Amino acid sequence: MTPLVELHLHLEGAAPPAFIRGLAQEKSVNLDGVFNEDGSYRFDSFEQFLRTYEAATTVLTGPEEFRRLTQAVLEQSAAQGVIYTEAFLSPNFCGGGDLGAWREYLAAIKEAADAGERDSGIIMRGVVTCIRHEGPEAAKPDALCAAETMGDFITGFGMGGAEDVGHQGDYAYAFDLAREAGLRLTTHAGEWGGAVSVWEAVRDLRVERIGHGVQSIEDPALVDHLAENEIVLEVCPGSNVALGVVPNWAAHPIERLREAGVKVTVSTDDPPFFHTSLTREYDMLAESFGWDAEVIRDVNITAAKAAFCDAATQEKLLKQLEPNHV
Ligand code: ADE
Ligand code: ZN
Repeated sequence: MTPLVELHLHLEGAAPPAFIRGLAQEKSVNLDGVFNEDGSYRFDSFEQFLRTYEAATTVLTGPEEFRRLTQAVLEQSAAQGVIYTEAFLSPNFCGGGDLGAWREYLAAIKEAADAGERDSGIIMRGVVTCIRHEGPEAAKPDALCAAETMGDFITGFGMGGAEDVGHQGDYAYAFDLAREAGLRLTTHAGEWGGAVSVWEAVRDLRVERIGHGVQSIEDPALVDHLAENEIVLEVCPGSNVALGVVPNWAAHPIERLREAGVKVTVSTDDPPFFHTSLTREYDMLAESFGWDAEVIRDVNITAAKAAFCDAATQEKLLKQLEPNHV
């Protein structure tokens, strides 16, 4: 299997359930309602998913917990053949938007990232994300945290959360601040908010990548715009199926978008929540749309080229993606 490049992974959303349960036990935190009887995360709608997600994060009480989380997540990804991962990190969960606290959490996350690279070669970069349902005011300190800690590790700024709250443009202040600091930009759009939300993201936030973006398929003019302007989609098909954005794998628009010339990449979003992994995503794409090794390599080359990393790192990834690389 070709090495894999992942651009859309929420750090807390990648927490193995056993890791969260273990911390809850250590700290005597009650996580009633978070897990099913079989130990998996419990949710049956997107709203409930967000609630479960946020409840699970309550055991992540300090930098050390985030160091351990990052270590567990990188081990999980490296075991899947992932050579590069961009993790969404939220100051909301790491000190509540306070810059001093954020620096401490970030140092701990970076310590685990350095150890992961040393031990298994996996490279990690951080994209600071604001949370849409916390509102535009809360996004400003997030952007400030991102701008103040931008560098080799923090390379991007983005937004996740409930897409039905307000408009993309309501968050323009935070995105402008991040852009002016030199951060690269992405936002969740067209997961729940339709093609109009993707248009708004492109026009009002001027992002170069879109998280999900799959509902762009509703609007042929938007599909053309994305293709012509080489706006990259971070598509997470297993997430979309699990959350009911699409009814099943066969109905997923990723192949139609790809055939229309849109630059698509593949990620897992919150893999343990959706009972997935990056290799399962590609297995399902092979089964559903006949993706062969060549398509998979192409998609990962697209991801490497769209990665929010420095040129030397990108070169290294592209080398590893060459057919005869050993
Ligand atoms: N946060 C974690 N996963 C998310 C998703 N799929 N959509 C929006 N926000 C998220
Ligand atoms: Zn996401």
